[in-house]
Amino acid sequence: MTTFLHLTDFHVSDPALADGDLMADTGARLGEMLAMIAAMEKKPAFAVVSGDLTNHGDVASYRYLRTRLAGIGLPLLYALGNHDTRPGFYRGMLDRTHDLEAPYCHEAVIEGVHVVVLDSSVPGRIGGALGDGNFVFLEHALTGHPGLAKIIVVHHAPALDGASQLPWETLGEDESARLAAAIRGRNVAGILAGHVHVDRVAVWNGVPVVTGTGLHNGFDPLYSGGLRAVAGAGFALCTLRPSGLAVTFVPLPSDRRELAVLPEEKVRAFR
Ligand SMILES: [Fe+2]
Repeated sequence: MTTFLHLTDFHVSDPALADGDLMADTGARLGEMLAMIAAMEKKPAFAVVSGDLTNHGDVASYRYLRTRLAGIGLPLLYALGNHDTRPGFYRGMLDRTHDLEAPYCHEAVIEGVHVVVLDSSVPGRIGGALGDGNFVFLEHALTGHPGLAKIIVVHHAPALDGASQLPWETLGEDESARLAAAIRGRNVAGILAGHVHVDRVAVWNGVPVVTGTGLHNGFDPLYSGGLRAVAGAGFALCTLRPSGLAVTFVPLPSDRRELAVLPEEKVRAFR
């Protein structure tokens, strides 16, 4: 049995930028979350962060985030989201100076869990895609450690079906079908995602697909005809047992007050 954290959608900006696009003080929310994690009596084995680490993908904000996370005391596995940039992430988080546009796919085995991280970010787009490179990486990774349960981390979750979500909210239908085929029979215990800023579990082809609220805002799941952003933040505590994955959502204190309403025509125009 291994316990780990699913963190997502930090949307942090370097305070020096005075980011006017933020609906909430994500730096403060990050501090609250880190204090909650530090107070846990039983330390998790690791944490995955499923993308939108920064709000604008600039190097300074990654450096700021890196400093803020330096004391967490856990291995951190990052995925990239639509608010991230690969060059900014590589330079700011990893001090990497080569192949700055390459997708960030990687894997690790920690305390008996095989974590496979994919990069669904597409420069300049809100929506996500995997492309052949991610699938080649995934298919190879899934042949490794056949005795270990696998957790896939990706910013954009697969599409549940064509009608239930807007195209930019998920991977495309063709890629979702390709993902379903790639993981079939491969002991995948769960897919951990972000992007939609809602705590949700959807069982998809027998595999739990989990999305989290993150630290910027929540979206009101009861609102239809656009998006209603509300105050809210959270993360998730995950336990992988031989019988499967349990996910417990941990909300940060919030009054869920309305922050903004995006009209339907605007939301439908996102790409
Ligand atoms: Fe986000």
